[in-house]
Amino acid sequence: MEKKHSNPADRARELRRIIDRHNRLYYIDATPEVEDREYDTLYRELENIEINFPDLRTPDSPTLRIGGAPLGEFLHVKHMVPMMSLANTYDTRELHDFGQRLKRILPDTHFDYILEPKIDGVAVSLRYENGLFVRGSTRGDGISGDDITENLRTIRSIPLSIRTRNKPPPILEVRGEVYMTRTGFLDINIQRENAGMEPFANPRNAAAGSLKLLDSAQVAGRPLDAVLYATGELQEINFSTHEDLIISLREYGFQTVPEYWVCASIDDVIESLKMLDTKRRTFIFETDGGVIKVNNRNLYAALGSTAKSPRWAVAFKYEPERAETRINAISIQVGRTGVLTPVAELEPVSLAGSVIRRATLHNADEIQRKDIRTGDKAVIEKAGDVIPAVVAVNTDVRTGEEEIFSMPSFCPVCGEAVIRTEGEVAVRCENLQCPAQIKRWIAHFSAKSAMDIDGLGSSLVDQLVDNDIVKSPADLYEMEEGRIAGLERMASKSAMNLTEALDASKDRDFWRLIHALGIRHVGAKSAQTIEDNFKNIDQLMHANKTILEEIPDIGPVMAESVIEFFGQERNITLIRRLKDAGLNICAPDRTDNCADSMFTGKTFVLTGSLENMSRSDAQLRIRELGGKVSSSVSKKTSFVVVGKDPGSKLAKAEKLGVSVLTEMEFRKMAGRKDDGA
Ligand code: IVH
Repeated sequence: MEKKHSNPADRARELRRIIDRHNRLYYIDATPEVEDREYDTLYRELENIEINFPDLRTPDSPTLRIGGAPLGEFLHVKHMVPMMSLANTYDTRELHDFGQRLKRILPDTHFDYILEPKIDGVAVSLRYENGLFVRGSTRGDGISGDDITENLRTIRSIPLSIRTRNKPPPILEVRGEVYMTRTGFLDINIQRENAGMEPFANPRNAAAGSLKLLDSAQVAGRPLDAVLYATGELQEINFSTHEDLIISLREYGFQTVPEYWVCASIDDVIESLKMLDTKRRTFIFETDGGVIKVNNRNLYAALGSTAKSPRWAVAFKYEPERAETRINAISIQVGRTGVLTPVAELEPVSLAGSVIRRATLHNADEIQRKDIRTGDKAVIEKAGDVIPAVVAVNTDVRTGEEEIFSMPSFCPVCGEAVIRTEGEVAVRCENLQCPAQIKRWIAHFSAKSAMDIDGLGSSLVDQLVDNDIVKSPADLYEMEEGRIAGLERMASKSAMNLTEALDASKDRDFWRLIHALGIRHVGAKSAQTIEDNFKNIDQLMHANKTILEEIPDIGPVMAESVIEFFGQERNITLIRRLKDAGLNICAPDRTDNCADSMFTGKTFVLTGSLENMSRSDAQLRIRELGGKVSSSVSKKTSFVVVGKDPGSKLAKAEKLGVSVLTEMEFRKMAGRKDDGA
């Protein structure tokens, strides 16, 4: 049991130390020592002290990791020591050349090499003055970059002050790579797709995109991490070898490479590169190679650098995983937004552990540039990207039978003329009635998170659209049971079930319909926010941009997209037909059963897991009582309801002075009978 200080200043200092330690154990060492709950109690105690004694808040307080007010733009920072890049090598011969070159410059000096993984992320520089994190920046052009201090502060594995018993150096600049973990990347793409947003192509793009956000509170929600492996400006501190640097950085509380190899010769390096290759897929970051450095840092000055990169280091890139196979055909995929994408239909081939049958060809320009023809032998590659791509074709083995591809002038699905906008590479089918688009739309409409129409899966959707039975979601409610029963593999029982499911869906919550309409950028969560703020569909259809943007959690992009949706004649018709079919188009009446006016017009944010009720029950109850539910805390929030493991929303609420309710307090207020309240 820690002895508690009665003096708040001492206690705050102690809490910061304890919290930092737990942060490190959790985020860097992956060996947490306490339950989340205990951590949260400590965190909250510190927050309370800081709220009551604002002078005790220090610039390295862990409570500052939740992000601050959005910026208009990033400031530029000049790097005191330029941020260089590395020369790349692709084979062992080039590595020997690198070794020879060093020997020529330093003929009589013995030195070791050190090999470490090359992290595929975004280069950053962190500046610590007297031990305190004061600035973080991107590489930019190497001479100056963007000041992204606030974004970097949200990354838990970056220490806000360095850990040392001695006097910290006046200036310590450390450099490394910010990356998104593989699992974090997969999660965030699922979220984005659910919200109708473009997924990130790979973890590196995701990390780069996150660091470019001007709103650090948003960055705080991105699964970013950092590994440090180099230095910038240093004062009153030195590291004699790179291995020393790694060890010292670890002691200071930084995350460093998970493994490194000290090698006496280039042959040793080559052996170690093989070991790294067998391990790299197990790292939490993407690694496409290794970096070989001279271990003795005292030689760096003598070795110097070229215009772009130091002579004491070189990157080695592994061959991306490739395979050769035949392109049997080039087909066209019509996406949700009508974009036509050419896809290579391949002779199945095994690559990086999976069987590949198709590879994207991106667009017509790309096909022309690479001279890709149907029947060609193609080299396909799975680099950092998730979808394999065709790198090149082997023109030497052409038989003359290969066919040149040309982008169709008509949509292969609906036959309508396609459009290529000036200055854009993408070719689009702009026919909103195109079956490819309708199929996706209907599938989205009936999905679990939307109208939840039981039994209306994708193959039935395909049949309904292909047989011209359904062209719009409204058609679903006007189908005759007999027509459905007439479809292939459709027994009359299933037809009856579908009719029942469709009937049941008419009474769904209003937000489900809003989500089901497929308005771009409006996911299930935003639909609930919209429901909280509008009485019915008519009110929503007539809302202008100002009204929409005033709603918490609705930004300009979403507002614009809602307005555009209801500005289209076909959507007005759709709504009229859905109304006629008897679908619920009203938000629940929140005034009728309003037991307690405390809820009316109030905005609630739920955070952490509730122990005695599900989150959706709590949301429902808030709405029933006339309140609104929002997902992020702002000045407009009336109450934050805190469950177990509340995280950053609680911190933000306390920072903004928003009232906080425990689950019990909330239940009392909501008047749940089972509490006897
Ligand atoms: S050392 C003077 N070590 O790869 C430059 N760089 O392709 C010192 N990178 O610019 C860089 N992992 O952004 C170094 N272990 C590592 C690295 C690494 C990734 C990045 C870095 C560099 C780029 C070169």
